[in-house]
Amino acid sequence: MQKIAVLAVGPGSPDYLPPIIYEKAKACDLLVGGKRNLALFNFPSQEQLEITGKLDPILAEVREKRRDRKVGILVSGDSGIYSILPRLVSEFGRGALEVYPGISAVQYFFARLGLCWQEARFLSLHGREVDDLADVVSAEDVTALFTDRKNSPAMVCRILTDAGVKDKTVYIGEDLSYPTEKISRGRVEDFLEHSGSDLNLVVICSE
Ligand SMILES: C[S@@+](CC[C@H](N)C(=O)[O-])C[C@H]1O[C@@H](n2cnc3c(N)ncnc32)[C@H](O)[C@@H]1O
Repeated sequence: MQKIAVLAVGPGSPDYLPPIIYEKAKACDLLVGGKRNLALFNFPSQEQLEITGKLDPILAEVREKRRDRKVGILVSGDSGIYSILPRLVSEFGRGALEVYPGISAVQYFFARLGLCWQEARFLSLHGREVDDLADVVSAEDVTALFTDRKNSPAMVCRILTDAGVKDKTVYIGEDLSYPTEKISRGRVEDFLEHSGSDLNLVVICSE
């Protein structure tokens, strides 16, 4: 049985897709991933399986198909930060996986801002709540937040404002690496009504 390739595809643009990921994806019989990630590849006679909801049936299918096929599982950005890698490890075991890194959306965003990220605190609000968000942002010089349509940049700014955390610079990155990319900079109170792309990230700095 071949190992499952975990392929990190970067922020979304093919320009930021490492060549080795492209080659490894091409060598797979079956590619599994979200719609946005699968759209990066279109190899003839290769099967694609889209992750739309619950992972359990998808992983059951992977378990079955990997018996006689090379399976690649696509993750956005890098596999090492807020990806399904831990779930894959618990499902198949680390020895069953070969993991190839990519450029995280947050790494891309820090580069676009001309900022380093070694001191940053990373949190994900993508599909989850963070109860102590205002306390964390208040205590840290740099916080990077994976946000989404529901837990949006505007919602983050409203939580901070309600908690009295206003003296911060907020950067919002939308559709990073795509032609529709938009980067905004302002104070917390500037973004209380912000509306934009559902694909977004927030970086909050003390400066
Ligand atoms: C499940 S997390 C995956 C993070 C990924 N492992 C990474 O390294 O970027 C999904 C979140 O990443 C962020 N994201 C991914 N791609 C993005 C992009 N092109 N532009 C803005 N945010 C992006 C959004 O905050 C989104 O809700």
